Amino acid sequence: MNPDRRPYILLNYAMSLDGKISTEDRDPVRFTSGIDRRLMDEIRADVDAVLIGAGTLRAEDPPVRIQAAERRDERTRMGKSPHPVSIVLSRSMRIPSEGRYWKDGQVERIIATAVQTPADRSLPFQEKAEVIRAGETSVDLDELCRMLSDRGIRRLLVEGGGEVNMAFWAAGLVDEVYLTLCPVVIGGRNAPTAADGAGLDADRFRKLRLVESRRVGQEFFLRYRVVRSRS
Ligand SMILES: NC(=O)c1ccc[n+]([C@@H]2O[C@H](COP(=O)([O-])OP(=O)(O)OC[C@H]3O[C@@H](n4cnc5c(N)ncnc54)[C@H](OP(=O)(O)O)[C@@H]3O)[C@@H](O)[C@H]2O)c1
Repeated sequence: MNPDRRPYILLNYAMSLDGKISTEDRDPVRFTSGIDRRLMDEIRADVDAVLIGAGTLRAEDPPVRIQAAERRDERTRMGKSPHPVSIVLSRSMRIPSEGRYWKDGQVERIIATAVQTPADRSLPFQEKAEVIRAGETSVDLDELCRMLSDRGIRRLLVEGGGEVNMAFWAAGLVDEVYLTLCPVVIGGRNAPTAADGAGLDADRFRKLRLVESRRVGQEFFLRYRVVRSRS
C-alpha cells in the first residue's frame, strides 16, 4: 500500500526476556518500570490515534488518556485534542461498555469492526464511540488505514496485543517499533508474544534497522525502523 495513503504506523510494546507480553491467562500484570510508563505517555502524546485489539481491552481495561498535563497542554497549543483518538479493533464487538477504558469524557473513541458484525452489537456504545466498518468478516486493515488517513490521522500507534501486532505485520503496515526489553521471565507456551497468529514464511520476514538503543536502569529501550524493499 502506498505509504502516502495511510498513516505512519508505530508499534509499541514491552516484552520479557523470553519474548512474552503477558501471562498465559492474560492477567493484567505490570512488569515494566515507571520510566517505561513515562516513555509510553511521551510516545502516545506524539501520535494522532492509538489502536488496541479487543483482547487487550478485555484483559487490561486500559486507561487511554495522556497522563502528563504538560503534554496535553502542548498538544492543545499545537491545535490538537488533548488526547489521541482511541481505536479498538474487534470482529465480535463483544467488548465491555463500562470500566476504566470508558471513563475519560475528553477522549474520542472509535470501534473498528467488520461489515457483517450484527448492527445491534453497537447499541451499548451509541453515546460512547463511533463505530466504523471496513472489510466483510474481519476488518480490512488497508481500508481502515485509508479511512483513518482521510480523517487526518497521520501517525497511528498500535499497542497490541500479539494478534493485532501480527495482523499489522502481515499486512505490511508497520514503519517503526518501540520495544522495551524487561528483565523478567514470564514463560508459558500459550502466553502472548509480541506477534502471534499465523506468522510469516521465511521469504516474507520483516527486516528492521536499529535506530536507537538506551539502557535505563535494568531496562533496554530500543527503537527500530522497518527496511522497505525496493521492489
Ligand atoms: N506488554 C505489552 O506491551 C502489551 C501490550 C498490549 C497488550 N498486551 C497483552 O496482550 C494480550 C492481548 O493480546 P491478544 O493477542 O490476546 O489480543 P489482541 O491482539 O489485543 O486482540 C485480539 C482481538 O482483536 C480483534 N481483531 C484482531 N484482528 C482483527 C481484525 N483484522 N479485524 C477485526 N478484529 C480484529 C479480535 O477481537 P474480537 O475477539 O472482539 O473479535 C481479536 O480477538 C493481553 O494479555 C494484554 O495484556 C501486552
